[in-house]
Amino acid sequence: MKSQWNDAQAADCADPLSLRVYTSRLLGREASLVLHGGGNTSVKATATDVFGDSLDTLYVKGSGWDLATIEAAGFAPVRMDALLKLAEKDVLSDTDMVRAQRMAMLDPSAPNPSVEAILHALIPFAFVDHTHADAVVSISNTPDGEARLRELYGERVLIIPYVMPGFDLSQTVRAMTRDVDWQALDGMVLMHHGVFSFADDGRESYETMIRLVSAAEKYLSTHAVYESPMAAKSGENFLLHLARLRKAASSLRGAPVLAMLNGSAEAVSFAADSEAVEAIQRGTLTPDHVIRTKPWPLLVGEDVRASVERFSEQYRAYFNRHADASLTCLDASPRWAVWPGYGCVSFGRSVQEAGIVADITAHTRPAVLHAEAMGGWTPVCESDLFAVEYWELEQAKLGKGGDAPLHQGKVALVTGAASGIGKACVDALQAQGAAVVALDMNPAVAEMFDAAQVLGLVCDVTDDVALKAAVEAAIGRFGGLDILISNAGIFPPSRKIADMDAQSWQQSMALNLTSHQRLLAFCQPYLALGIDPAVVLVASKNVPAPGPGAAAYSVAKAGLTQLGRVAALEMAEQGIRINMLHPNAVFDTAIWTDDVLAARAAHYGLNVEAYKTNNLLGVEVTSRQVAELAAAMAGPLFACTTGAQLPVDGGNERVI
Ligand code: NAI
Repeated sequence: MKSQWNDAQAADCADPLSLRVYTSRLLGREASLVLHGGGNTSVKATATDVFGDSLDTLYVKGSGWDLATIEAAGFAPVRMDALLKLAEKDVLSDTDMVRAQRMAMLDPSAPNPSVEAILHALIPFAFVDHTHADAVVSISNTPDGEARLRELYGERVLIIPYVMPGFDLSQTVRAMTRDVDWQALDGMVLMHHGVFSFADDGRESYETMIRLVSAAEKYLSTHAVYESPMAAKSGENFLLHLARLRKAASSLRGAPVLAMLNGSAEAVSFAADSEAVEAIQRGTLTPDHVIRTKPWPLLVGEDVRASVERFSEQYRAYFNRHADASLTCLDASPRWAVWPGYGCVSFGRSVQEAGIVADITAHTRPAVLHAEAMGGWTPVCESDLFAVEYWELEQAKLGKGGDAPLHQGKVALVTGAASGIGKACVDALQAQGAAVVALDMNPAVAEMFDAAQVLGLVCDVTDDVALKAAVEAAIGRFGGLDILISNAGIFPPSRKIADMDAQSWQQSMALNLTSHQRLLAFCQPYLALGIDPAVVLVASKNVPAPGPGAAAYSVAKAGLTQLGRVAALEMAEQGIRINMLHPNAVFDTAIWTDDVLAARAAHYGLNVEAYKTNNLLGVEVTSRQVAELAAAMAGPLFACTTGAQLPVDGGNERVI
């Protein structure tokens, strides 16, 4: 690991707090130092209060801030005298500590100070840096980790045994450093947890951290060598198993989750290593991770459902072993899975949540392998992990944000997604929390959506092979399928039956009818394993009210509607609901060019504005309204509705 210090950038930091922001971000940039809100930093400086008095102040990372993106506002200013007085107390609950720290803040709108604020105050240097460096923690998570760390660092690093973070940890450090010559120390390692560096100079504190971690990385490269990765096996029914896994994890969680597979050679190789898989059942890299990952991963065996069931039984047994009557068991659903032959899966209510789990576990796996090569993975014991998982302060970090959006954790597939109604459906479903796979033959689809939550795939839905591959890519990305909006369609140029050429007719049939049947067939096995699975077929007002010159369109859409009715009959036993939407005159779409619009309006003797609202309610129907309805039809409001046809046309006397 190299120092990222840059003289020019550092020169812009006019005061200690700006320098603190700068070097904190340097630390936050390194995923192998801190991940997703882990670690904390501080600087001691003088602040002036409202009375003009100078106060010794600790600016310490506020909870909820991430070192990678922290700003000055992310540091809570806390009076040093109060922190040092708190440090002298014999007993203090963590909740009381948080309250007392808040009361000692110089700015009531600042975030809650880190739970390590007292510890930072006790360290008699201006700058204090704390990370969960993979390499250092890996060495500490071995049977003779303490001896190895002493061999590596000698006397200049103090080794602190594992103690629960918060007040207890500050007490332990205080007791252990009473007679210590701080000037003779470069840092401290907290066993199974992380590492501290400190100095009066911001650069020195930061670069000491880099030096300590680099030494640990070098140590691992010579003392902990493990085998190189292998490739994944491919199984016929793998994607179905993945969907089954997601369904089982969702039902234990009590809400839909995504199941995101990491099939990289690294993950596959880890999952194939039975000793590593056995080792990882012993616990997490650093105890903080337990709230994101649970104490251990699910191990997927031949029978996916039975494996998930076994995980939940083990989790409940773990809870019962350690809980007192005041605690309620959290959901017993895995956060990640190790799947021999295929790799590792992370679960999450959103792509972001699954991504955090994926990042954490990607750092845990090499740490386990390193430790295994040095005598065995030895993280904190189970009761310590439990104490962190059920720690009141950790629990407070979770579950913020009120009710989840309607489709949170669901997976949707939308065709014809680059324009008009299809695009609006992607936007609506995404806004309602779903992960969406957006298919369109227009290459723009690959770029136009938020890349994390929406997978845009270029696909001509009339190409059977490409369509099947796209469905499989969808399952491979998010782990299953719950919502299908089969929407792609074209409105061929108006032509009387007698003038119709075979090609135009067939083109309309291929896209407006046949492609929907193929898509339904490819999706059905996955929808059957979905959560409240629902299909919406976008048909047309032309079905109940056809027009002259639109035979190729109307016949195909009528066929599509009949397909939907048969599908509703056939798929009900799998719980799949199929409903049809009949939009009319949705003008903010590419089907309606300005020329077509003007021509149709003229045909009815209306100006364009009047034509747009030419329906019983006199309203303009937008693609967004159609999309909101489609999204609602995929939700619980329509739980008892299948085989239904719904107009969305502002009211049409020929239809009513
Ligand atoms: P649009 O033209 O704005 O969007 C259709 C999308 O489908 C385009 O992005 C296009 O690239 C894509 N597409 C066309 N052929 C494809 C293929 N072979 N493979 C993959 N993608 C393909 O049109 P709009 O209005 O949003 O239409 C969506 C659906 O709504 C269609 O089925 C249409 O028949 C139906 N509809 C539209 C009405 C309207 O007034 N706009 C009224 C009634 C029904």
